[in-house]
Amino acid sequence: MCGIVGVLGKHEAAPVLLEALKRLEYRGYDSAGIATVHKGQLDRRRAVGKLMNLSDLLVHEPLAGKAGIGHTRWATHGAATERNAHPHRSGPVAVVHNGIIENFRELREELTAKGLAPETDTDTETVAILARHYMDEGMPPREAAAATLKRLEGAFALCFLFDGEEDLIVAARKGSPLAIGHGEGEMFVGSDAIALAPLTDRITYLEEGDYAFVTRDGAEIFDEEGRRANREVTQIKMDSARIEKAGYKHFMAKEIAEQPVVMADALAAYVKSGVLELPEAVDFREVDRLTFVACGTAYYACLVGKYWFEELAGLPVDVDIASEFRYREPPMSPKSVAIFVSQSGETADTLAALRFCRDKVARIVSVVNVVTSSIARESDLALPIRAGVEIGVASTKAFTGQLLVLALMALKAAGDKGRMTDAEISQRLDELATLPGLMNQALSRSNQISEIAKELSETRDVLFLGRGRMFPLALEGALKLKEISYIHAEGYASGELKHGPIALIDAHVPVVVMAPHDKLFDKTVSNMHEVMARHGRVLLITDAKGAAAAKAGTWKTLTLPEVPELFAPILYAIPAQLLAYHTAVAKGTDVDQPRNLAKSVTVE
Ligand code: M6R
Repeated sequence: MCGIVGVLGKHEAAPVLLEALKRLEYRGYDSAGIATVHKGQLDRRRAVGKLMNLSDLLVHEPLAGKAGIGHTRWATHGAATERNAHPHRSGPVAVVHNGIIENFRELREELTAKGLAPETDTDTETVAILARHYMDEGMPPREAAAATLKRLEGAFALCFLFDGEEDLIVAARKGSPLAIGHGEGEMFVGSDAIALAPLTDRITYLEEGDYAFVTRDGAEIFDEEGRRANREVTQIKMDSARIEKAGYKHFMAKEIAEQPVVMADALAAYVKSGVLELPEAVDFREVDRLTFVACGTAYYACLVGKYWFEELAGLPVDVDIASEFRYREPPMSPKSVAIFVSQSGETADTLAALRFCRDKVARIVSVVNVVTSSIARESDLALPIRAGVEIGVASTKAFTGQLLVLALMALKAAGDKGRMTDAEISQRLDELATLPGLMNQALSRSNQISEIAKELSETRDVLFLGRGRMFPLALEGALKLKEISYIHAEGYASGELKHGPIALIDAHVPVVVMAPHDKLFDKTVSNMHEVMARHGRVLLITDAKGAAAAKAGTWKTLTLPEVPELFAPILYAIPAQLLAYHTAVAKGTDVDQPRNLAKSVTVE
């Protein structure tokens, strides 16, 4: 959620911190702040709203010093005010934090009783006060930070900076990721490697419970028990072009447009000379059941996956929302495989569900975009979707990337289970290979969709309908629209319409019907006519055959190229994304950083 960064540099820290925070702003953007130590003095600047406000403030009130920490916030405790913005300071200690300190109320009471009352509404301030308390008792900064960490419950990534210490940052990770960057005579800390990308490509990922004393000479790392720990320094590949807008107005627009290339790249990686090449470890022969767990858009990808695995491989599939999964005590078969789908690989609910499954299932597999993420590292096998960095908060290319990997896994399962021959699998792979081209054609409908979106932007409520494999697409279309345009939208299985939601239909509620001309088309058209009979305005997204068969009466019809039936959800994601995008642009909302959201949801 929040983004944190630390610098022990050779040059002034403030501009470096600001640049790094820019790359982390996708994680949270309701306030930002930095603290530095200069001539032994700790000082800080904080501003409400986007990073630009902090940048402006620093022009008028610059902050000197070559050692510093910075933060961009997604509020959990306390409103987005300057007082609640990080870094939090108590006496000689400043702290930036991502996560939640669950026992902060108890700690607060204890510290208040000692005369150290909080000044903010945040959980984080308690960390600074506690460290200050230990320093008041005579502990040096390192020991004070280590003693503080022992008292904290919950999930956190933390950086501490101290008065009088221009060559020390204490960094700690429990539940929220943290990376240490190694430069030449400089050291860095960041929520993720993207933040550190232009500064260094040599990264050490802290493991669960680790803390580190970082100085310009390196990082001394300790595990949860306080034992010295050796953590690898890895050379990461960071394609900076993938984190620029490259001429697009928004990251989301760029990421939507990248999908044909992402799809082609992923296919090239997993299909060699027409043969599916997933790692050997994805073996479904002995598997009796699959459990998919994810959140948001990734959850909808899993719902599509369920159709594929059941239809192609005959495997029973459960799909769960990660935040619910652990709390319903699901019985799990030791011969089952649990599959966790997450773009960021850091989603707290998904990670907690993964840990819940450990030792209960035969294998834990993840489908991730960030291969260095916690979910990837804690899985028995991580399958990358290879989408490249996704910056826009609304997930687009990661969704179609997830769908592709799930489709490939379903084909592998079908082969392992003896339900499909190699020739049949190869035929399906040929169908998948047509997708990049079809996606390009779908993208060419952007102008037409933009015109429709202008009208859609005037509405308050929109319904999305889909049947069969298109039902999860209706859910995804609605989620995309509401998260970036703030228009209320709901997705329904077409057949469910008459069981309640039809009561909402009138001339003011557009209904987006996603229906390729497949064997379910006629049934969906009947549902569409039920809408039209009640003066509902239908936007039908279909193919040429569907457009001809639907006959007149729709408000608008958007025609996509014909697509192999099985994989239609991958293609139909594009108009759903473009519709949301253009509607948000027409409304003038913040497309890449919509209100109240964050890219990586690292709190439960
Ligand atoms: O990083 P993850 O894929 O685990 O994230 C899951 C959801 O938070 C994410 O898909 C969210 O729903 C997106 N904002 C949707 O566009």
